Amino acid sequence: MKSIGISGTPGTGKSSTAKILSQYLGIPVIDLSKYVIENNLILFYDSERQTNVIDEDRVRHELLKLYNSNGAMIIDSHYAEITPKEILEVVFVIRRDPEELMNILLKRGWSLNKVIENVEAELLSICTLNAIDELGEDLVIEINATSRNSEEIALEIIEILFGEKSAYYGHTIDWLSILPQEKLLKIIELLKR
Ligand SMILES: Nc1ncnc2c1ncn2[C@@H]1O[C@H](COP(=O)(O)OP(=O)(O)O)[C@@H](O)[C@H]1O
Ligand SMILES: [Mg+2]
Repeated sequence: MKSIGISGTPGTGKSSTAKILSQYLGIPVIDLSKYVIENNLILFYDSERQTNVIDEDRVRHELLKLYNSNGAMIIDSHYAEITPKEILEVVFVIRRDPEELMNILLKRGWSLNKVIENVEAELLSICTLNAIDELGEDLVIEINATSRNSEEIALEIIEILFGEKSAYYGHTIDWLSILPQEKLLKIIELLKR
C-alpha cells in the first residue's frame, strides 16, 4: 500500500482519525504542519491570514524521500494533496457539518476570525476542491464525520481501503445542497455576527 492522505478543514477530526488508523494499519502518521515547521519548510508567515506559507516543492521532495526510505505513511494535513501522486494511495477528506465544526473550533478556543474562516471553508468544500484540483477525482474520497466518533470514521476508511465497502470518488458532500435552507441561513447568520 502507498501512503494515505487525511485531509479536511481543521477541527473535522483528521488527527484523531489518523491516530486510530495508524494503530490498525501499523503505519506511522506524519503531522504535516508540524513536520513543515520542524524541518523549516516554510517560506514566510502570512500575518493577515495567521498562517504559514509553505515551500511546496521542498515539502514534496521531503515526502518522497521519506517514502523511499520508510515506506507508507498516513499524511495528516488540510493540505495532504501536496503529497506526490506516485506515493499516494488515496486522500480521504473528512467532512463535518459546519455547525458542529463551529462548536468544536469555538471549544478549542480559536479566535473568531479563525473559526469563521474555517467554517466558511467547510461550507464551501475547499479542502475537497483543492484535493481534486491537485490530484483529480480518482484519488479523493470524502467521509462524512458528522455525529460520529473517530473510531467509526477510521473503521469506515479501513473498510474502503480493503474493498469491503464501496465509496464514491470525488466531490459528493456539498453542504450547500445537503443542508436544509433554515439551517444554512442560521449558519450564515452566525458567521455574520
Ligand atoms: N469524531 C469526533 N466527534 C467529535 N469531536 C471530535 C471528533 N474527533 C475529534 N474531535 C474533537 O475535535 C477536535 C479536533 O479534532 P482533531 O482530531 O484534532 O481534528 P483536526 O486534526 O482535523 O484538526 C478535538 O478537540 C477533538 O477532541
Ligand atoms: Mg490535526
